[in-house]
Amino acid sequence: MSERRLGDMPPDEFRRLLHQTADWIADFIEHVGERSVLPLLTPGATIDALPAQAPEQGEDMASILADFDRLIMPSLTHWNHPGFLAYFAITASGPGILGEMLASTVNTNGMLWRTSPGTTELEQVVLNWLWRLMGLPDHCFGMIHDTASTATLHAVVAAREALEDLPIRARGQSAAPPLVLYTSEQANSSVEKAGLTLGLGQENIRKIEVDEEFRMKPEALDAAITADLLAGRRPFCVVPTVGTTSTTSVDPVEKIGEICRRRRLWLHVDAAYGGVAAIVPEMGHVLAGCDRADSIVVNPHKWLFTPMDLSAFYCRRPDVPST
Ligand SMILES: Cc1ncc(COP(=O)(O)O)c(C=O)c1O
Repeated sequence: MSERRLGDMPPDEFRRLLHQTADWIADFIEHVGERSVLPLLTPGATIDALPAQAPEQGEDMASILADFDRLIMPSLTHWNHPGFLAYFAITASGPGILGEMLASTVNTNGMLWRTSPGTTELEQVVLNWLWRLMGLPDHCFGMIHDTASTATLHAVVAAREALEDLPIRARGQSAAPPLVLYTSEQANSSVEKAGLTLGLGQENIRKIEVDEEFRMKPEALDAAITADLLAGRRPFCVVPTVGTTSTTSVDPVEKIGEICRRRRLWLHVDAAYGGVAAIVPEMGHVLAGCDRADSIVVNPHKWLFTPMDLSAFYCRRPDVPST
């Protein structure tokens, strides 16, 4: 290997390829609507087109970018296509992509204030902006998670940690009676996955019945909690949804919150899909009752022009450990 090839790419070459890639990105965004939304491929086609082993020799960037165009681009589903109407919306945008480029260039790690003070403080400031934009009162601690699925997992962990009379942190789940997590029949699968990941057991994850508009029925929730208490189980957390994945129905968080306060249960609101609608003043009602939630997640990578992945997790009780 020649000396020139040790270390990172030479600065001039990097600059040239950066300009080339910038043009590629701008062309892609300008013309994405001319592509097919779905790739016309059979399963396994991309695996078959790629070598089974990593190459022994490095290749120049021009060949790598050409391979990307030839082998990868035709295999993609274009979520940024204006005709993409499946699953849920994502909204990459010019400013979002530029921000992503800067973030990967400075490549900081914000796990602690000291590991990059500006990263941590910028995160706090911007998440406070978002909190206030959604019309919520000024006292919830925000942090970035990759996805709502991870944020909800952390919320359920925190809800379990908040059970101070049970030594679960030290002795594990077996030191507790069966803990019960409540959500609705229409909840995103991430809620059940959080419960399964924590080892609650599927039998202890209640999917509460919904009304004719797919909203969790508070009276059914209350009855389920009573039944679980009578059976010796320990209710600990309720997860209503603001904007369900299938129909964007909004659970009655205010009423559910009253039940949680009366029963002393953690209220985590999954507002990943619908929560940011509250930024529009006439839609503020979608977050009614969320100001009193213990935690809430919203997804800027759905409607806020931010590329995947960026989920904003807010917690009123950041002192409760979630890991
Ligand atoms: C209501 C709701 N919750 C959670 C999720 C999961 O979001 P993420 O992909 O960020 O984990 C989704 C995704 O569509 C959703 O609609």
